[in-house]
Amino acid sequence: MDAVDLDHPNSARVYDYFLGGTANWAIDRVFGDELSKLVPIIRIGARVNREFLGRAVRHAVRNGITQFLDLGSGVPTVGNVHEVADTIDPESRCVYVDCEPVAVAHAKVLLERHGDPARQAVLHADLRDVDAVWKAALATRVLDPTQPIGLLMVSVLHFLDPQEEVPGVVAAYRDLLPPGSQLVISHATFDAVPDEQLRQFQAGVELYRQAGIAASPRDRETIRSYFGDFELAEPGLTWLPEWHVNDGPALLREQPAACCFVGGLGVKR
Ligand SMILES: C[S@@+](CC[C@H](N)C(=O)[O-])C[C@H]1O[C@@H](n2cnc3c(N)ncnc32)[C@H](O)[C@@H]1O
Repeated sequence: MDAVDLDHPNSARVYDYFLGGTANWAIDRVFGDELSKLVPIIRIGARVNREFLGRAVRHAVRNGITQFLDLGSGVPTVGNVHEVADTIDPESRCVYVDCEPVAVAHAKVLLERHGDPARQAVLHADLRDVDAVWKAALATRVLDPTQPIGLLMVSVLHFLDPQEEVPGVVAAYRDLLPPGSQLVISHATFDAVPDEQLRQFQAGVELYRQAGIAASPRDRETIRSYFGDFELAEPGLTWLPEWHVNDGPALLREQPAACCFVGGLGVKR
């Protein structure tokens, strides 16, 4: 596994800091505090994203998904995918994938202590290496490629650089998925964001850039295009606090656009 880079803040560890986790270093906390000053809503935004992830996983399980591939899964925190899925289907399965060594190491420890190797696995990989990730995910034998898979790309695609790669990467995963699979995406956007948050988030993106982290909010049409011909489940691509809000907690319901994140779930027919 690659050495942990402690000379630069890292998106996985900064996100963990925002969620109240302990898998972060001083450099991540200093960066996170600076970012929070520029974008005061960002900590709540991280929780909004986790809430969306939980609602989307529950929706997928209720609609026949028994196994998940979680790309850019992050440091394990409250409401991990397998934990959420297990509340509805105790036999659910999940493979986690992340490129950040700290996130992967924490996930391994969590699964060694509390997991079931027949039902969960974690891979250290770059999600852009589609074929390698797919082969490695199937080699765990946790996933059954003949059955629908819930593919999660939650708050990760805006970190891909160069952004020109994103459509091809997502399309390659869409093609690999068996029929009936479901694709969940959440993504940062500047489209129709209130002026105040827009200015703040633009400053935040610039701060990320200076720290060597590419963060690319995209317009809704572009994000919508990542679902290809998958059928978007109701209510379509929405602000995260507007998506299936009756199925669990949803912060920022009163000002959904302030979170600057949209998301949705598409089904492969
Ligand atoms: C903001 S966190 C999101 C974590 C989780 N998906 C969630 O929504 O709570 C983004 C994660 O994507 C990971 N990531 C970024 N680029 C990646 C890549 N190319 N391949 C795999 N993981 C990546 C980061 O390491 C980080 O853990």
